[in-house]
Amino acid sequence: MKVSSFPSCSFPVLLPLITFLLVSTLLGAAAVYRSSDETLFPFSSQQQQQQQPQRQPQSHSQSQPQGDQQQHQQQQQQPTKSQTPRPVPTEQQEYKYFHEAGWTEQLVHYDARFFRGEVPYAAHRTELEHLIRSYLSTCRALGVETWLAHGTLLGWWWNGRIMPWDFDLDVQVSGATLAELAARHNGSVHEYTYWEEQPRSDAEQQQQESDGDGAVVEVEKYKMYLLDVNPSYAEVGRRQGQNVIDARWIDLDTGMFVDITSLVEREPASQPGVWSCKNYHRYKTQDLWPLRETEFEGVPALVPFEFEKILVDEYGEKSLVVTEWEGHRWNPDLKEWVRMNKTEDAS
Ligand SMILES: *[C@@H]1O[C@H](CO)[C@@H](O)[C@H](O)[C@H]1NC(C)=O
Ligand SMILES: *[C@@H]1O[C@H](CO)[C@@H](O)[C@H](O)[C@H]1NC(C)=O
Repeated sequence: MKVSSFPSCSFPVLLPLITFLLVSTLLGAAAVYRSSDETLFPFSSQQQQQQQPQRQPQSHSQSQPQGDQQQHQQQQQQPTKSQTPRPVPTEQQEYKYFHEAGWTEQLVHYDARFFRGEVPYAAHRTELEHLIRSYLSTCRALGVETWLAHGTLLGWWWNGRIMPWDFDLDVQVSGATLAELAARHNGSVHEYTYWEEQPRSDAEQQQQESDGDGAVVEVEKYKMYLLDVNPSYAEVGRRQGQNVIDARWIDLDTGMFVDITSLVEREPASQPGVWSCKNYHRYKTQDLWPLRETEFEGVPALVPFEFEKILVDEYGEKSLVVTEWEGHRWNPDLKEWVRMNKTEDAS
């Protein structure tokens, strides 16, 4: 929003320019005012009344903790697939901003608005790779600080990749960064270009340029992603847990998404240096920052400074040791989780 220098030019040009700058500065100030509003993260006594979520019985077999997904279990009502007005909030039932395609363990991984059917196991990892690569590279281009969290961080720890049984992705930002995303980038759609290998015959049918030899050719493709910020992002407490996800990076083709949650010092007076999200994951300043530069799925990424401590706190020592999980076995030579065959696959 800041204008660093005035171009030197003659007065008739300067007058409209000054008017424009004045107007845009005022608009900018309004946006900044909105985002730095005192009511953003005030400590309120409501926090002491936070209810524990009323969990419905879950069937999470031997799975690892499901990150921030548990809130989906609470509401039995089916989401509407249309874009008609969302349900009016009542005092009994908290308004929910993000709507998933359904409440089963599979369907909670899709935004209802863009859901076109479940992405099968064989294809989902590629979609998630594009999702996280597009998110991380867009954030880097915009100067937005974001880092890997939860199961996504665990996947990074093992081999810098998404774990093949994951169907969504988790990242975190600071509360200040989220306010900036809300003020400047909410609702923005981003194009992401990538190259895909295709068998030569397919590619030739599409009349793509070929490299002259080999059975595959690289074809340029693109996808679109939406950054959607929950209007409840600035609330301090969890309430009924319907809005613990502060923002999402959503694949417009499939409805698959990256969950973005913000960490805020919620009680700076009594607990300085303790950061938490709305789902009660807590971190100390020195465990998060300075973030470490790394790579994830082949693109530059950031992880918390004390990533191992954070993983052990969340998932236990076993998460860094156990080499069979969710029907997959760790192959130390390949440095990959390999799917065990169907008969062994419990799920
Ligand atoms: C973000 O934009 C959507 C519409 O695209 C809107 O419904 C939502 O309230 C906005 N979020 C914020 C934080 O303003
Ligand atoms: C499935 O796993 C069993 C036991 O590990 C193995 O003997 C068998 O060959 C596997 N089958 C396939 C099709 O990979």
